[in-house]
Amino acid sequence: MEKNQRFTITSALPYTNGPIHIGHLAGAYLPADIYARYKRLCENDVAFICGSDEHGVAISIKAKQEGSSVKSIIDKYHNLIKDTFQEFGISFDNYSRTSNAIHHETSKQFFRKLDQDNCFEIKNTQQLYDENEEQFLADRFIEGECPKCGFEKAYGDQCENCGASLSPDDLINPKSKLSGSKPVLKETKHWYLPLGNYEDFLNKWIIEGKKGIWKPNVYGQVKSWIDQGLESRAISRDLDWGIPIPRDDAKGKVMYVWFDAPIGYISSTKEWAKRESKNWEDYWKKSDTKLIHFIGKDNIVFHCIIFPSILEAHGEFILPENVPANEFLNLEGRKISTSNNWAIWLHEYLNDFKDMQDSLRYTLTVNSPESKDNDFTWKDFQSRNNNELVAILGNYINRVFILTEKYFNNVVPKYEEIDSNQIIKIYDYVSLISSSLDKFKFRDAVNHLIDLARTGNKYLADKEPWKLYKENNIKEVEQILYISLETCALISILSEPFIPNSAKKIRDIMDINLVNWTRLKSTNQIIQPGHKIKKSNLIFRKIEDDEIENQLRKLNSNIKG
Ligand code: MF3
Ligand code: ZN
Repeated sequence: MEKNQRFTITSALPYTNGPIHIGHLAGAYLPADIYARYKRLCENDVAFICGSDEHGVAISIKAKQEGSSVKSIIDKYHNLIKDTFQEFGISFDNYSRTSNAIHHETSKQFFRKLDQDNCFEIKNTQQLYDENEEQFLADRFIEGECPKCGFEKAYGDQCENCGASLSPDDLINPKSKLSGSKPVLKETKHWYLPLGNYEDFLNKWIIEGKKGIWKPNVYGQVKSWIDQGLESRAISRDLDWGIPIPRDDAKGKVMYVWFDAPIGYISSTKEWAKRESKNWEDYWKKSDTKLIHFIGKDNIVFHCIIFPSILEAHGEFILPENVPANEFLNLEGRKISTSNNWAIWLHEYLNDFKDMQDSLRYTLTVNSPESKDNDFTWKDFQSRNNNELVAILGNYINRVFILTEKYFNNVVPKYEEIDSNQIIKIYDYVSLISSSLDKFKFRDAVNHLIDLARTGNKYLADKEPWKLYKENNIKEVEQILYISLETCALISILSEPFIPNSAKKIRDIMDINLVNWTRLKSTNQIIQPGHKIKKSNLIFRKIEDDEIENQLRKLNSNIKG
C-alpha cells in the first residue's frame, strides 16, 4: 500500500453521440473510480481525469440523423453523461470536453512538434468521394450490402449484422449516406504516422518490459498487433468537424479523432491544474508519476500502441505504467448493442432505482469483465443485491447496531481486554483488499469486503452475546460488542471505494469520519469506548421480483431488429 506517490488516472473519454450504459460503467469508469478513491485514501496525489470525446464521424452522423447541429448534439450528451457520472459517484477531478479551446491548442501543439521533427509521412491516395455533396466520405458514411452476410446496411468499415470488418470497396452497391449517390474515387493527400518506426520501441517497452505485469488479455492483444507488423496510420481526415490540421497546405483537413482524443487527457489535466493551482507537467512529464489508463478492450490498440508512439515521438512525456483494460460485459446473454437498443441506460436506471447507485456499482464490480467477457442479468443483479448487500453486509451492520442500542443505549462499550485474535483477523482485510486493488483485481477486492462482514457475522454467531447478556456476563458482552462495532467502522472505511454512498451512511450512523487506509492498524482502533452512535437506519433495501420483471419486459420491448 504505497503512499506519497503521484498518479495520473484516466478513463476513456466517452463519445457524445449517445447516452452511456452499464457496459461503459463496468469497463472504464467504475474500476477507475474505485482505484482513484483507493489511491487517495492511501495519501497519494491523484489526478483522475476524463472528459467528452466530441469529434469523429459518428457525431456528425448522429447530428444529421437527429436533424440538429453538431453543437446541440455534443452539448446534450456532454451534459447528460457528465451528470450521470456524477450521480454514480465517479470522482473525476476534472471532466473536460475536446471542443474546448485548451484542447484545440494542445492538440495543435502536438501536431506541430511532430511535424517539425518529421515524424509524419505525407501520402496521396485515392478515396471515395460524394460528387453531389462535394465531400470525401469517411468509411462510416458509406453503406452497402455486406459481402459476407448480405445485410443491406453494412458500413464501409464494419457490418453491424455479422460483425465482419470491412473496407469500403468490399461493399456491394456502395452508396453515400449523405446523398445516396454512388461514390467515386478521387485523389487526396493525408498525414500518416509511420507506426513501423516504433516497433523496436514498443517491443522493448511492452513486449519485454511488461510481460507478466500487464493483464494477459491486454498484453496478448498488443503482442499480436506488433507481431503482425504495424502499418502507417492516417492521422488526418477530409471532414468539416474536428480540429484543423495546423498547416497552410492542409485546408479542409482535420485531425483524425483518435489522434486528438487521447491528447484530451492532457488538455483536461491542464484545465484542472489551472483551476487547482497545480503544475500539469508534474502529472505528465515527471518520471516518478504513474500514468494508468482505464479502458475497454476495443481501445487497447490506441492506448498501448498509437498514443504511446505519439508520446514517444514527442519525447517529453511519460508512458503509461499500466493499461488495465477490461473485456466486454454482455447483457442477458447477448452483446450490448446501442443501435439495437439492447442496453441498460444509466440515466434510466437512476430513474427506476432511486438512490440505489451502490447496488449497481456492487454488482458490476463483483461481476466485472476483468479477464474475460461477462454477462449481466437482472436476476443476478437482484440476487447479488438481496443475498449479499442486504443479507450479509446490511444485515450484519444492522444486527450490531440493534444490539448496541438494546444493551448499551447506543454508547460504544468499554472493554478490559481486547480480543486480540479477532482484531487481527479483521485488520487482515486491510491488506487483503489493498493488495487486490494494487493488482487491479476488483472482483477479489470486493469479495474480501463481503467476507469481512461474514467474519463479523460468524463471530457474533459463535459468541452469542445475547446468551451472555441473559447470564449477566456483561464484561464479555462489552468486549464482543466493542469488536463488532470496530468491525462495522472498518467496513464503513474499506467499502468507501466500492459503495461510497452506503459507506457514508454507515459512518453517519456511527458518527465517525473517513480514515486514511494508511492509518488503519489493529493497534490503532477507529472507534473509542464512550462514543455515542446515532439511531440506525437500513443501509440497503431488497429488490422485489416485480421490479426485475418490469426491467426484463422493458428490455425486450425496446429491442429493435
Ligand atoms: N471515445 C472513445 C470510445 O468511446 C474513447 C476515446 S479514449 C481517448 O471508444 F483516449 F481517446 F480519449
Ligand atoms: Zn455482414
